[in-house]
Parts: sequence; C-alpha cells; structure tokens
Amino acid sequence: MKIASVKGFHDVLPGESARWTWIEQRSRDLLGRYGYSEIRLPIVERTELFSRSIGDTTDIVEKEMYTFDDRDGSLLTLRPEGTAALVRAYVEHAIAQREPISKLYYLGPMFRREKPQKGRQRQFHQIGVEVIGRDDAAIDAEVLLLLHDLMGALHIRQPRIELNSLGCSNCRPAYRDVLRAYGEARRASLCENCARRLERNPLRLLDCKVATCRDATADAPVMLDHLDSACKQHFDAVRAVLDRETVPYALSPRMVRGLDYYCRTAFEVVAEGLGSQNAVGGGGRYDGLVKELGGPDAPGIGFALGVERLVLSMADHPEALPLPPDIFLAPLGSAAEAETMHAAHRWRHDGLRVEMGSGGRSLKSQMRFADKTAAPFVLIVGEDEVAAGAATVRDMQAKKDFPKAVALIADGTALRQALAQLAASGEEKKAESGGAAS
Ligand code: HAM
Repeated sequence: MKIASVKGFHDVLPGESARWTWIEQRSRDLLGRYGYSEIRLPIVERTELFSRSIGDTTDIVEKEMYTFDDRDGSLLTLRPEGTAALVRAYVEHAIAQREPISKLYYLGPMFRREKPQKGRQRQFHQIGVEVIGRDDAAIDAEVLLLLHDLMGALHIRQPRIELNSLGCSNCRPAYRDVLRAYGEARRASLCENCARRLERNPLRLLDCKVATCRDATADAPVMLDHLDSACKQHFDAVRAVLDRETVPYALSPRMVRGLDYYCRTAFEVVAEGLGSQNAVGGGGRYDGLVKELGGPDAPGIGFALGVERLVLSMADHPEALPLPPDIFLAPLGSAAEAETMHAAHRWRHDGLRVEMGSGGRSLKSQMRFADKTAAPFVLIVGEDEVAAGAATVRDMQAKKDFPKAVALIADGTALRQALAQLAASGEEKKAESGGAAS
C-alpha cells in the first residue's frame, strides 16, 4: 500500500530544488554583504515561548500550532516562526554581553496548521533576519533596504513594500481604546472572531478578511493618525531614507501583522504570482520582546521571507536551473566502463561535473540520456578507444565527432583545454561552411 505525504507538507523535487539552492545562495551572499551571520536554531521549542511572544489571541497561537506532550508533562511546539526562537537563543546565550548589536539570519522550516492553498503550506520555509540592540530609525531603513535589495537579487516579480507604524507602548494604548470603542459601536456587524477579540486585541479588526467586517470598519481610525511625536519622528526618518534611496513603498495604514510583538515600523512585501496569499515577506520592530522573554531591555527589528512564495513569484532565470554536467561519459562494454569510471573519478576530483552512462547500454540509449542532461560534450569510449587510451569526443552543439581526441589519463585542466580547442575548431568549421554558402 502506498503511503501519501501529510496534507500541507510538501516534497521539493529535483529541478525545483535548484531554485531553492539558488535563492539560498543569493540570499546568503547579500546578507553577508550587509553584515549578518547565520544562526541555526532548533525546530522544537517550549510552547510557552510562542504563546508569550506571538500573543495568545493571535491565529497562530489560538489554532495553528503543532503542539504535543513530550511524554514527561512538558508541552512542546514545532516552531511556527523564527523570531521568538532567535530571541530565546539570544537571551539564553547572553549574546548581548558579547555583541551589543547582533545582526543574525536563519533559514529553515516553520509549521502552521493553516488551510493549505497556493502559497500556503503547513510546513513552509523562511529566510529570516533580525537585528537586536538598535532602536534608531536608520537601522529600520537599512533593514528595508536589505529587503528591497533581496527582492532584486532574487528576481521577484513586481515587489511592493507596504509600510505602517504601529506606535509604541506610550501611544498605542490610547489608540486601542479609540479603536475598541469604534468596534463596540459596530459589534452587531462584526464576525464572531472580531467580536470575541475586541476586548483584548481590537487591532485585528483592521485586517479581518470577512466582507461584513470590512464593510463595517471601512472608516476605522488608524494608528498613523494617533502616533505620539517620537513615533512620528521615527517613522518620518525611516521614510526619508527610503525616499533618498528611491526605494518604492506604499503606506498601508490598516496593516497590523499577525503577531502581537510588533511596535513602530511594520511592513510586508507583496509580489506577483501568488494569488490571494500575496505577501512574500513581512516583519517589523519588536522593542519589548527581548525583555518579555527574560533578557535585557534590547530593541529588535527584522523580517522573514517565505521561500515557497519566493519560488512562485520569481521571474524565470537561467542561473536558477540545475547546472548541466561539463561532460558525459559513454562507455561501451565492461572494459570501457572500468576505464571511464577511473577517469570520471579523477575528473570529478579535479572539479569537473561528470555524468556517466552504463557500459551495458547501447550507444544510442546512452546518447539519449546524454542529450537529456544537456552536457555540451560526450566522451565515447569503446574497445578502440580503450586500446588507444583516448576517448572520442562528440561536440553536442556542433554535432561533430573528434575520434580519439582526449587522453583518458589527462588531468582536469588538460581536459578542459582540449575540449575548449575542439569547440573552437568546430566553430571555425561552421564559420567556413557558413562563408562558403553565402
Ligand atoms: P509572518 O508574516 O508570519 O512573519 O511570516 C513571514 C512570511 O512567511 C510570510 O510573508 C510568508 O511569505 C511566509 N509564510 C507564513 N506562513 C506561511 C504559510 N502557511 N505557507 C507559506 N508561507 C508562509 C513572521 O513569521 C515573523 N517572524 C517575521 C519577522 C521576523 N518579524 C520580525 N522579524
């Protein structure tokens, strides 16, 4: 009996995985240029870490976490996001004492029991970045520049940054009261979720997807109109850098994000190709979180990108496809197979990408395989070639054979040189015959 994968948990098959590798490599490269180092975090954490940080009235904590009893009474959860885990590690290892400003990134799977659809899985993958220890607007702006540059480096189609400020512990409580009073006056028109959360989490009113809620709250007051002067100054300073660096963004006053730890700068990046799940990434400032999790009073800001959504919204790009082999070896018979095996082992050691057919197969079937791999050269080794110690080279593009043209004992460098010369002579031939025809 076949056993199927679990709903919402996907395989990344060969071919597609090349895109993932490309995304990871390009991201690591850019993150290095911005001064971030990698942190590797466990996938399982204590449940209370998430309920205390993400907020127990959020969708994630209320209904999406994979939580289980560890058979000793402790409750554990598959991480639904990376920020809380990173802050836990930051506090646990007293990273603040070693480096007061930490710029860290992580890559890996996250788990949320959401309803699966295009761009939404139960196991998904994030590339996340966090800066802990700076509260100035310049670092918010730098994080947004990084986000913008990542979108460019990854060839994301029509990315758009949406920006908001969620205020701080000084100005948000008064705004929450205003919003709660606004919601109370419309309680009868609100969905069950919003009505239930009105007391403890009125901000959720602003991003509820239920049509009746949206209609009922169309003119709801927004945080941007209730910022205190320090938050307003901070927000203006972030925007000034984005303007100077010509990073396009749109103000999104109703965006509140799905996690409760945010304050001040909050943002999402949306892109083409995603349907209704159009956010490829999101993040913001979380100044109270480190302290809330038992650490020093250190501010933080960061974001995470969803890798599955990056793949969906990436423009096709040749570099993201799997690399073809440099050469394909086609041995004919078992003696030839032993020789080519030996040569392949050496050439791979010398840095070449080598694919090899099976000596028991016909030349025709091996050529079909070679064609599929898109190798530019096939080295054919039959009895004659074994006796001569040299392979016949087929230039797949010029469709030309060069009998016994490269020595089987050649090292990698000599082989590359020989192939380059053969390719050039094939080109010359083509140019000559092209000239004669015209
Ligand atoms: P988030 O907005 O919950 O933020 O997730 C960030 C990104 O993860 C989303 O924009 C999306 O691309 C991807 N994502 C989330 N859920 C799913 C899903 N079910 N299927 C596929 N992709 C998904 C956070 O997680 C914060 N920790 C970000 C952050 C870092 N804030 C500050 N620092």
